[in-house]
Amino acid sequence: METTASHKTHVLIPQDQISKRIEELGAQIRADYSDRTIYLIGILKGACVFLSDLARAIPGPVRFDFLGVSSYGRGKTSSGEVKVTKDVDVSLEGEDVVIVEDIVDTGVTLTYLTHLLSQRRPRSIQIAALLDKPSRRMRPVHVKYVGFTIPDEFVVGFGLDYAEDYRNLKEICVVEEP
Ligand code: IMP
Ligand code: MG
Repeated sequence: METTASHKTHVLIPQDQISKRIEELGAQIRADYSDRTIYLIGILKGACVFLSDLARAIPGPVRFDFLGVSSYGRGKTSSGEVKVTKDVDVSLEGEDVVIVEDIVDTGVTLTYLTHLLSQRRPRSIQIAALLDKPSRRMRPVHVKYVGFTIPDEFVVGFGLDYAEDYRNLKEICVVEEP
């Protein structure tokens, strides 16, 4: 069993700023797709909190599904290998797909997933990420919809975890050195 999580954290992005930004992204996404159905694909588990707010911030027809991935290893560093643990339940052929991710860090996960979902022959494919840490990028990824660009710090909350803890925090917080 794990012991109770008790790392020192401080707030980086408060709740009201997150909600305001997600409302803006929702309006921007709808404007880009006219009245077409947008298929949001949330990447489990981190993106589920962002997706639930984003879906409701987009007016008009929206569908969503989830794709489970785990990068081998836990804690603060990803090993660079991506494994699909749950595929989407639907064919995405001909759909306008928006991959919804919590954070883009090295870009390894999204490079892999964009390639994977492109093979399903969607009508279009774009990425929405709540957070972007561009300083750590190893693979170039085009993230059309970014909530916030943040410095190279390890963050938790609003779906993001540190070894599975802190996903339920209402704000984005920085984990100070454990
Ligand atoms: P990438 O493949 O390096 O871009 O990694 C993206 C994934 O790493 C995200 O979906 C998160 O699960 C995880 N990750 C990267 N940075 C952070 C962070 O600061 N806090 C929590 N998880 C992170
Ligand atoms: Mg993730």
